[in-house]
Amino acid sequence: MRIKARIWLCACTSFLTMAMLSIVASVVAADDADQSLLERARAMFKPLPENAGTPERPLTPERVALGRALFFETRVSTDGKQSCANCHQPSFYGTDALPRSVGNQGKVLPRNVPTIFNTALQFAQHYGGNRADVEEQAVKALVSPLAYGNADYAAAEARLPRQRRRQSWRRRLSPCRMSWSSEACQGEPAA
Ligand code: HEC
Repeated sequence: MRIKARIWLCACTSFLTMAMLSIVASVVAADDADQSLLERARAMFKPLPENAGTPERPLTPERVALGRALFFETRVSTDGKQSCANCHQPSFYGTDALPRSVGNQGKVLPRNVPTIFNTALQFAQHYGGNRADVEEQAVKALVSPLAYGNADYAAAEARLPRQRRRQSWRRRLSPCRMSWSSEACQGEPAA
């Protein structure tokens, strides 16, 4: 009996040792696989650049202020309600959280709105890639019958009353607006 028990003990110990060795081997193999996957991913993906400016279109405080003002501007749309921010809402990560966007005069757009975060870094815009860059898309949205509804660019521009437009741009591009500092706002008319 004693010999039988020792044989069983011996068999169990070797089984356990082998099982542990194979677990260690598979953990080491998984580590190697993870490492090579990580290296492949690093070769393909790079960290985002600090900003999306280019030599022709550098990022300047004036451009940022103008872009921000235009992004939230509703007066250029034919129903007076559309702005980029309606469909690309910052609080929904640049989308509108709808299955399909609702545009000018309640017209439903054919597609779900994509985020616009980091889209300036893409090599093309739109699901169909039919816009070269964000600038082209921003301009063409003004004459889209579904988004802003303007017949042409002259009609879009004419929607901004000249005097109010000048005042509004002056205020939006003022040092007060652009610096976020209360000192820069001294002497500014209340918004
Ligand atoms: C009524 C809703 C609506 C408004 C207003 C609107 N967009 Fe869009 N936007 C969309 C939809 C929907 C798409 C996807 C269109 C497609 O791919 O066919 C889109 C696509 C885009 C894209 C391409 C994103 C990508 O990843 O390809 C950019 C950039 C963009 N819009 C910027 C703007 C700007 C700037 C404005 C304001 C001038 C604006 N949009 C106004 C709904 C809207």
